[in-house]
Amino acid sequence: MKNLLICGGAGFIGSNFVRYMLDKYPDIQIVVYDKLTYAGNPDNLEPFSQDSRYKFLQGDIAEHGSVARALEFNRIDTIVNFAAETHVDRSILDPDAFVHTNVMGVYVLLEESRKHGIERFLQVSTDEVYGSIPEGAFEEGDPIEPNSPYAASKASGDLMARAYHVTYGMHTIVTRGSNTFGPYQYPEKVLPLFITNALEDQPLPLYGDGKQVRDWLYVDDHCAGIDAVLQNGRPGEAYNIGGENEQHNIDVVHMLLRLLDKPASLIRPVEDRPGHDRRYALDNSKSRRLGWKPEVGFDEALERTVSWYKSNEWWWRKIKSGEYQQYYEAQYGKRLKG
Ligand code: NAD
Ligand code: DAU
Repeated sequence: MKNLLICGGAGFIGSNFVRYMLDKYPDIQIVVYDKLTYAGNPDNLEPFSQDSRYKFLQGDIAEHGSVARALEFNRIDTIVNFAAETHVDRSILDPDAFVHTNVMGVYVLLEESRKHGIERFLQVSTDEVYGSIPEGAFEEGDPIEPNSPYAASKASGDLMARAYHVTYGMHTIVTRGSNTFGPYQYPEKVLPLFITNALEDQPLPLYGDGKQVRDWLYVDDHCAGIDAVLQNGRPGEAYNIGGENEQHNIDVVHMLLRLLDKPASLIRPVEDRPGHDRRYALDNSKSRRLGWKPEVGFDEALERTVSWYKSNEWWWRKIKSGEYQQYYEAQYGKRLKG
């Protein structure tokens, strides 16, 4: 692995992964390839913009010519694909972009990778492809039963990566990560949304009864898991990367409010998300056998995250003053009034 293309590197996990890889591998060359949708943010890449081992290219993973040029001109040998439409609520409002990027985009990346002899291709997938599980934890061989347009589109990319291994012998690998949080996460996802709303004394719109369970994973642990799978995973296989940290939404909200010293009266129960998955849980045995495990405890990770949003108001205020407001109104306007 010398010349790494990180697709979607201007987003939340992707930009954290760029930093992780530059810190860990002194001889690596990284090209970030990103369309810069609403979620792609050049500010996320600013900390390493002067690093001679890093370069940025704007482009769509669903465009053959643009992907082909990026691969050829930079002698890319390895691809890690984070590029995706990622927010479940947006996929319910308008699934179109999800099919474009998460289905067609992954196909185009795989096809151009095949033509250009890419040595290793890692598709970043999600625990949501399994659907909801009332008890126990999903293993990699369990059925894929996605419930939202987002999850179904991610399942498609995940399975296409597998098919390119089986059919063409390509070295493709899939990771299925759980709910990730940390610095640079766009404030539509529940943790940064609730932290920034609380800092502004705005209501925290909690869906349904708040008893849904998510398995929270700190972003540095997610990056380390992806790297472990990239280095040592078996081609054609999928690897769970879970936080081993299940929490009810309502409990996480109370932890946040304590850290922020804000009142519980900010919590506003609102109409639930349609098709809302009740519980996610992953069995990490397979990725643990690669020598990886989650390292950062939840309390510490939450403290680090809250402290980052408190110290970087410039970052999220810029986002919240733009296109974001239209989305917020479409998603929450009626819910918060009702
Ligand atoms: P994000 O929404 O913060 O960033 C997505 C990035 O992809 C943005 O920079 C955006 O500009 C880029 N992008 C979107 N469409 C593109 C296209 N057509 N071509 C090129 N670039 C495009 O996402 P994230 O939360 O960092 O998630 C990254 C990946 O990890 C996604 O594949 C997601 O499904 C997966 N994942 C996320 C989580 C989580 O909790 N956030 C958990 C498990 C897996
Ligand atoms: O599990 C991995 C997935 O985690 C990733 O694949 C997705 O890209 C990522 O968005 C995330 O999906 P979720 O739907 O679990 O995340 P979200 O932050 O949207 O919601 C987390 C929980 O909080 C979920 O039960 C819904 C609830 N929620 C969310 C929002 C945005 C609320 O109660 N209110 C809200 O306003």
